[in-house]
Amino acid sequence: MVDIHPRNPWQIDLSGRTVIVSGASWGIGQCIVEAFLACGADVHCCDIRADGLDELADKGAHVRQIDLTVPTDVEEWMVAIEKDADNPVSVLVNNAGGFGQSKPGEFVEVTDAEWESAYKVNADTTFVLSRAVVKRMINSGGGRIINISSGAGLNASTTQNHAYTAAKHAVTGLTRQMAFGLGKYGITVNGVAPGFVISSPETEAFWDDMGPEIQRRHIENVFLRRTGIVGDIAGPVIFLASDLAGWMSGQVLAVNGGKL
Ligand SMILES: NC(=O)c1ccc[n+]([C@@H]2O[C@H](COP(=O)([O-])OP(=O)(O)OC[C@H]3O[C@@H](n4cnc5c(N)ncnc54)[C@H](O)[C@@H]3O)[C@@H](O)[C@H]2O)c1
Repeated sequence: MVDIHPRNPWQIDLSGRTVIVSGASWGIGQCIVEAFLACGADVHCCDIRADGLDELADKGAHVRQIDLTVPTDVEEWMVAIEKDADNPVSVLVNNAGGFGQSKPGEFVEVTDAEWESAYKVNADTTFVLSRAVVKRMINSGGGRIINISSGAGLNASTTQNHAYTAAKHAVTGLTRQMAFGLGKYGITVNGVAPGFVISSPETEAFWDDMGPEIQRRHIENVFLRRTGIVGDIAGPVIFLASDLAGWMSGQVLAVNGGKL
């Protein structure tokens, strides 16, 4: 029998797509890069830290060590990608983020340094990289942007890290406002808000420090009764980058195993 549908449109094939992923050294970002590579994409990724990047280069990704809060360095990286890639950038995943210097505690004890650091690591990285990429997406006729926010970007968090919660809400707000303004250029902007994922030595230590009682309460509040793994987040990111999500924009998917 002749196969009249050589390419199944319901399968996710991203070959020929140029994809940028930030914050790829470890954890969720690293898994997102591996997922895009598995779908055939041409992946350009970065981190402020060098660790982990060589491993991704060995798997076929193009890697760059860069601080995304420095606009001139970001612009240089964009020019290098344009020289190197066969096609214009069609997908951007803003995954770089984290607590920075911020920590849990009472609101009145939040220092200026903690506040600035949380905004720099989450909101500034997303803004600076998006601005550089969007200019190019407008010229090339469209694209997909996926911002990794957090459960703490949708609601107050029991971790009581005020600066991080505020900065992740900023990422959520930017996602919605960009979606509103960029739809006319054929650019979709969506977010993924992960629940707690054991993604790195840091999150592993955070989990261990909770102790058995708080861990038990955390798990009981998750419908699926487990913490997340990095692949739980990479899957929805690939979906949002694919043709399957062509009419979605301004949405922030809570990917957390189910929560009230
Ligand atoms: N792990 C979780 O439980 C969880 C939950 C909710 C949201 N998130 C978010 O998911 C994303 C990935 O989290 P993770 O736990 O895998 O790793 P992570 O939070 O440790 O950090 C992501 C990466 O971003 C990089 N980064 C930070 N500032 C940068 C800068 N200025 N320039 C370039 N790179 C920079 C870091 O070096 C790191 O490798 C983050 O945005 C995080 O806030 C994670």
